[in-house]
Amino acid sequence: MSSSITNSIDKAAACLLAGDVVAIPTETVYGLAGNLFNPEAVEKIYSLKKRPKNNPLIVHVKDLSAVTPLVNSFPAPLLQLAEKYWPGPLTILLNKTAVVPDSITAGSNLVAIRIPAHPVTKELLEKINFPLVAPSANPFTRISPTSAEHVNEYFGASIPCILDGGNCTVGLESTIIGIENNKLMLYREGVLGKSELEKIAGPITKHVAQNSNVLTPGQWPRHYAPLTKTILCEREQISLHIKKNTGVILLTEPLNNLSITQQHFLSETGNLLEAARNLYQVLHDADGQGYDQIICEKMPAAELGHTINERLKRASFNGNDNKLVKN
Ligand code: TXA
Ligand code: MG
Repeated sequence: MSSSITNSIDKAAACLLAGDVVAIPTETVYGLAGNLFNPEAVEKIYSLKKRPKNNPLIVHVKDLSAVTPLVNSFPAPLLQLAEKYWPGPLTILLNKTAVVPDSITAGSNLVAIRIPAHPVTKELLEKINFPLVAPSANPFTRISPTSAEHVNEYFGASIPCILDGGNCTVGLESTIIGIENNKLMLYREGVLGKSELEKIAGPITKHVAQNSNVLTPGQWPRHYAPLTKTILCEREQISLHIKKNTGVILLTEPLNNLSITQQHFLSETGNLLEAARNLYQVLHDADGQGYDQIICEKMPAAELGHTINERLKRASFNGNDNKLVKN
């Protein structure tokens, strides 16, 4: 397969200026990026991903000053979080101005914004001087990409440029936060956990999905999913599910009664930050082995363990009805 992978920030900038879509590295996952102000680029992103139009896009900017023209206000607790955690794996929902096209917010008055921390993409944003919309660079419902090779497998033939920034160091999508009726709301959990954010900004409520027209990613029951049938269960239950051609994903402890070649590990030391970083890579690897099924061990009940389990729950959803559910 011919590859569009490149280290040239200039090439990526030229493609974006020409209205093309390019893949960019971020510290969380790779994004499929286009110029916020170019309607054709936005359209291309939706069609490449086969993403429903009611699923809005995150805007990536170079610094806080680039946020100002995009938003009407920046409520104090959210600004405090931005000042503490940007650049970084935090996305903030803010009231948008008219310069932000409705097409990227699914008609909502809110726009999701973040400043990514990856040095390559920071340099790219400096160079182009316009914001980038970028959803994760995977087809709708599939495993998120944490390397340029993952993106190449998905989109190599259809995009001119995949900017290589190595393996993502965070590995899970950004935490998404906003404010409703003066209450801080958490829409998507990430490596930056609720309890850490609460130390800075006070109490935060986890958002529960309503029958709203604008979806947050946790509302899709099937997401982040391998093509291979995937099961999530407690460690003690794994042996009940094992059949001949099964791959198993474990935090760190091997299973005695299964060939080691069928076992995939998220962390050498049982560290959950490392497990988050490796999660999508390991899911990609296991999915490529030709197993009849993959069984994932549930992570321990710590905050980040719960966040990883949420992703694994979506990855292992096997129903046909991938519609909005309340969670
Ligand atoms: O870490 C990340 O956030 C990565 C990297 C590339 O930045 N991006 C990412 O994008 O995960 P995506 O599109 O896969 O997930 C972002 C989710 C969307 O699915 C959408 O539901 C929610 O953020 N979102 C975006 N804009 C929104 C808005 N205006 N209102 C409510 N939710 C929004
Ligand atoms: Mg995504």
